[in-house]
Amino acid sequence: EQIEKGGYEHFMLKEIFEQPKSIHDTMRGRLLVDEGVIKMAGIWDHVEKFKNANRIIIIACGTSWHAGLIGEYLIEEYARIPVEVEYASEFRYRNPIITDKDVVIAISQSGETADTMAALKLAKEKGAFIYGICNVVDSSIARITDAGSYTHAGPEIGVASTKAFTAQLTILTLIAFKLGKHNGTLDNTSFMSLIAELDLIPKKIEEVLSTTHELVKNISKDFVKSTNFLYLGRGYNYPAALEGALKLKEISYIHAEGYPAAEMKHGPIALIDENMPIVIIAPKKGHYDKIVSNVQEIKARKGKLIAVVNKGDQQVSEMADYVIEIPETSECFSPILASVPLQLLAYYIAVYRGANVDQPRNLAKSVTVE
Ligand code: G6P
Repeated sequence: EQIEKGGYEHFMLKEIFEQPKSIHDTMRGRLLVDEGVIKMAGIWDHVEKFKNANRIIIIACGTSWHAGLIGEYLIEEYARIPVEVEYASEFRYRNPIITDKDVVIAISQSGETADTMAALKLAKEKGAFIYGICNVVDSSIARITDAGSYTHAGPEIGVASTKAFTAQLTILTLIAFKLGKHNGTLDNTSFMSLIAELDLIPKKIEEVLSTTHELVKNISKDFVKSTNFLYLGRGYNYPAALEGALKLKEISYIHAEGYPAAEMKHGPIALIDENMPIVIIAPKKGHYDKIVSNVQEIKARKGKLIAVVNKGDQQVSEMADYVIEIPETSECFSPILASVPLQLLAYYIAVYRGANVDQPRNLAKSVTVE
């Protein structure tokens, strides 16, 4: 097992550090920047089905569901196809309206999640076209779908999903851009600059890992005794906030909630005092000015602020107690970069609390029962 961990103390840390490679592997053969092409046979063979779909319904559980939420932002923004994201466990029992004009995208790392499988079977019976995004090759979900794309993240052993999540985001990005280009909703110039930027993401993750690792490790020490955490973000980074909170809950057993930053005033703000750590994701691109005013509200209540910002940021950084800098990128890629320090934060807080990081209590890697 020590050999499999490749010198890392836990699989989770190894998998966090594998992300430049797993994202690169997920794009390999698909993203051809020089030719200005995204090659995805699974999408291309059915591109009219997607284009003419009444809507796309994304079905998933857990971390994969968070990836689905970002998929909704991506596909609606670039391909202009309506998207809904559903928890598989809810979808399967609420007699949903599905027709043969609907396209269902199932996202599952393991490809074995019972609720996701049951939801797919239901949608299939009602005539929907089923597209799978799975990590495990030849898994049950991969086998019942009509078409799909594998995330080539490699085996993920840590129960808390990390590299599978960012690989799912990579696939969803490729799908959104490919459909956008085909549908004519993403013009060629924007397409070219977006794919050039996407190609740089593995390098930027490497940079995030090398510049934030020690810093986040140190920050974590100050939160070992915390009992609650709030994670906030807007736009594309709202689901990233949900995922950051989930990581912390799963492995450190600290209660954490993710929220859209603007919704804070409808509840969570009542919880803020000098003992409440708040992680805010505040890149320059994406509602930055709005985030600044959210941060002011937090500071007025003396919340302990950990801010994930772009390099050289001033306004939010001046108000934050802890600043974690990530490189600038297009708004739609920022959840990929922002997730990395949040994974590290959850990891180190859990390690310092003496928790079993790779196999947290009560959780399973693959939930094959209801
Ligand atoms: C379990 C795992 C999570 C995962 C979820 C969905 O809860 O612990 O990490 O996100 O199942 O799993 P899937 O394999 O369908 O992505």
